[in-house]
Amino acid sequence: MRIAVAGLGHVGAAAVRLLQENRDILAARAGCDLDIVAVAARDKAKPRACDLSGIEWINAMSDMALRDDVDLVVEAVGGASGAAYDLVAAALRRGKHVVTANKALIAARGVELATLAERSGAQLSFEAAVCGAVPVLKMLREGLAANRITAVRGILNGTCNYILTRMENEGADFADALADAQRLGYAESDPSDDIDGIDTANKLAILTAVAFGRAPDLGSIFVEGIRAVTLQDLRDAAAKGGRIKLLGIAECVTRDDGTQNVIQRVQPVFVPISEPIAAVDGVFNAVEITGDFSGQTLIQGRGAGEPTASALVADIVDIARGNRSYAFGVPAQSLDET
Ligand SMILES: NC(=O)c1ccc[n+]([C@@H]2O[C@H](COP(=O)([O-])OP(=O)(O)OC[C@H]3O[C@@H](n4cnc5c(N)ncnc54)[C@H](OP(=O)(O)O)[C@@H]3O)[C@@H](O)[C@H]2O)c1
Repeated sequence: MRIAVAGLGHVGAAAVRLLQENRDILAARAGCDLDIVAVAARDKAKPRACDLSGIEWINAMSDMALRDDVDLVVEAVGGASGAAYDLVAAALRRGKHVVTANKALIAARGVELATLAERSGAQLSFEAAVCGAVPVLKMLREGLAANRITAVRGILNGTCNYILTRMENEGADFADALADAQRLGYAESDPSDDIDGIDTANKLAILTAVAFGRAPDLGSIFVEGIRAVTLQDLRDAAAKGGRIKLLGIAECVTRDDGTQNVIQRVQPVFVPISEPIAAVDGVFNAVEITGDFSGQTLIQGRGAGEPTASALVADIVDIARGNRSYAFGVPAQSLDET
């Protein structure tokens, strides 16, 4: 499998390192060598957190999609449009598999990209876009495939969970906890997408698509972030036997006429301490899925750069093994509008 990696920041560089350091076990599990043949980013002179010796640097990233010696493109650039979209769309059109961590892109244009993949026979995979190392999309598509899902709710943003945990445990105020999250590399230098709930909404839109067969629709999600959460709110919640968590929630509700709708929201929510998700602290992510036959299943783990690379490379192994699945678990054109 000949791989080109676009973007060499936190996620892309970690993916390169993982492919190199675990090369032997990956080859055994994938049934073939996973070779990085080319990389691209903006600035060739920038020091990278990975060894690029012997790997070709491509100046025009979009050229990756045109090359006959590339089977699979890893997109770790980011953004719902521009260079990332152009590369992913061009690669899929040419029948090259794409593995991406880009939740903004998949939430905004995932159906269009999944359609391109289906037309060309390429695989589009984005486990890394939701909750880092936590294989929640695979769990929905495969392990829980027999169920009608009735609800999904999760702590989908490690930065917000870290801030709320610091405030609660140490009495830190919001601004100090946010500054620490930035210093430790959890939050972006512009953390608005995290703390205003946008990042959580992107991930929720993708989870909803896979869980309920609904096209991602950011416009239908009510979104409230954590800026307004105060220390007093957290103390009040503790006094009532609970904690406040920023949750992404999607629930299937039956209308009066018997038809079903999926209601999606992102907001700080009171969670009783008796519920397992209340115990998920710090930078950890967790998703709780309720199915009609499975009941509740909770999966948790780490987000951020290295764990996200773990999910990216797992998707590559799946593709190398010849495992194919619809990107959202069903054909793109059969996804319902929310
Ligand atoms: N960081 C995380 O914890 C995390 C977790 C889950 C998912 N993700 C997703 O993973 C993706 C990458 O995130 P990241 O944190 O790794 O970002 P990052 O550290 O900012 O890295 C982005 C990379 O893309 C390159 N790039 C940006 N614009 C480009 C362009 N127009 N042409 C060529 N290269 C370009 C940058 O090049 P230079 O380095 O030369 O500037 C950089 O190497 C995003 O979609 C993000 O949402 C990130």
